[in-house]
Amino acid sequence: MELKLDWHGDKTDTLTNTFVKKLTDLIISDQLTAGTKLPSIRDFAMQNNISRFTVVQVYDRLVASGYLVSRRGSGFYIASKSTIQLLFDETRIISQKNTAKADGATELFDPCSGHLPAAWLKTLEIEKYIRKVGRNDIDNFYEGYSNISGYIPLRKAIQQRLHSIGVVSTDIEQILTTSGALPAIDTICRSLLKPDDCVLIDDPGYYMIDRLLNNLDNKHFGVPWSVDGPDLEILEQLIKTQKPKLLITSAVCQSPTSVTLSPAVIHKILGLAEKYNFWIIEDDIYGVFHSNAAVSNAMRLATLDQINRVIYINSYSKTISGKLRLGYMIVPKPLIETILTTKAFGGRASEFSEKLLYELLAEGSYRKHVDHLIDLLQTAKEQSEQMLTANGLILFNKPEFGMYLWARFPYIEDSRVISEAAKEHGLNIMCGHHFSVSQEISPWVRFSVAWCQDKRLSDFLKDFTLANRNHYIS
Ligand SMILES: Cc1ncc(COP(=O)(O)O)c(C=O)c1O
Repeated sequence: MELKLDWHGDKTDTLTNTFVKKLTDLIISDQLTAGTKLPSIRDFAMQNNISRFTVVQVYDRLVASGYLVSRRGSGFYIASKSTIQLLFDETRIISQKNTAKADGATELFDPCSGHLPAAWLKTLEIEKYIRKVGRNDIDNFYEGYSNISGYIPLRKAIQQRLHSIGVVSTDIEQILTTSGALPAIDTICRSLLKPDDCVLIDDPGYYMIDRLLNNLDNKHFGVPWSVDGPDLEILEQLIKTQKPKLLITSAVCQSPTSVTLSPAVIHKILGLAEKYNFWIIEDDIYGVFHSNAAVSNAMRLATLDQINRVIYINSYSKTISGKLRLGYMIVPKPLIETILTTKAFGGRASEFSEKLLYELLAEGSYRKHVDHLIDLLQTAKEQSEQMLTANGLILFNKPEFGMYLWARFPYIEDSRVISEAAKEHGLNIMCGHHFSVSQEISPWVRFSVAWCQDKRLSDFLKDFTLANRNHYIS
């Protein structure tokens, strides 16, 4: 095969980058199709009048990024169509950002982000702990797998932490570490549900749970949320008609509404679980941001239930890094064995991350870090409430704590209108319907208070109001 590329025009980039980019473009645009064999390194070098060393680098880079597959003794081939599609989706997001930069537009940013700014998280100085674990434990790193239930000292530290939310009677066997909250939910669903079993989830709620249940072929229904939490009448109706095996919900700083349930609502939900016999997953990932008192004054489902019907899950993705991939679940005793069996297939946590977290918890740095984050969030929340309302939005509620504000323009019924306009301004706004099982048009948008101080957002909201208010109101 001859593959001669026109590369002489591009003097702004290195030769390797130029060839990587040109070949990637040909693959993405289907001019080089899945399974096609590329010329050998020698032939490609000759055809394009470049060194073999450059070709080796180019092919290596494309193999590493997944566009090429190297077959030993046979050569280099274009990867499968499904792999290319996945890579293409990722590339598109990155290139959208780059285009915005190249056009001189301000860089795309996401005021609805599910993550706190890196600058807030960096005060933790994680590098100190990475060095410490690397120094003290490197020999052990090369030996075998991590403990299936999790690193014991860390689980003991978590057991202590559970006291601060009033979960006092857990045995260490009930505490299982995971590679995050979503993997914990996935493991529990795989353990407890058969295909077609029904699950109830929050609406609006964490959109990935809907995707997960679709993937597992489990029927699921959204329970509508008001400012007080789930609509208890609809919840009971759904329980009676759909006979769910599981309810997945959050009691403290729920996403996207930041609603925290009252003890009365928690009591009612647990009563229903008892009466109609279903399990509850309590996802408490944002609960950590509720009050910086040593003992939290917010009640969890797990507090009242003491891990009887409630499987409590949590994670460090919001407070340390989404890349740490570390969380845990607290499991009722009768479920431990079933869940451990499923966990063996892919639910093991990284021991390196576990040890890192253990160091942080043991030194007390984590608690100080979280208190600092809560202070930052509280200030940001007040400013964001003012900024959003000053720009004509109304708030679903005024949450006491939390990372998000759920807000809408009074005259816009479909938040896709906002999202489309935001794109033109280099902003990425996720529409409300993504947070709903029904995917029905929604006027709501989830704003992440940590990002709302950015002037790009207030400028956009001002422009949007000027451009749309009269149009929609008249
Ligand atoms: C409510 C909720 N639960 C779970 C997760 C996933 O957490 P993890 O990164 O630990 O898997 C998220 C992530 O944004 C979330 O918002």
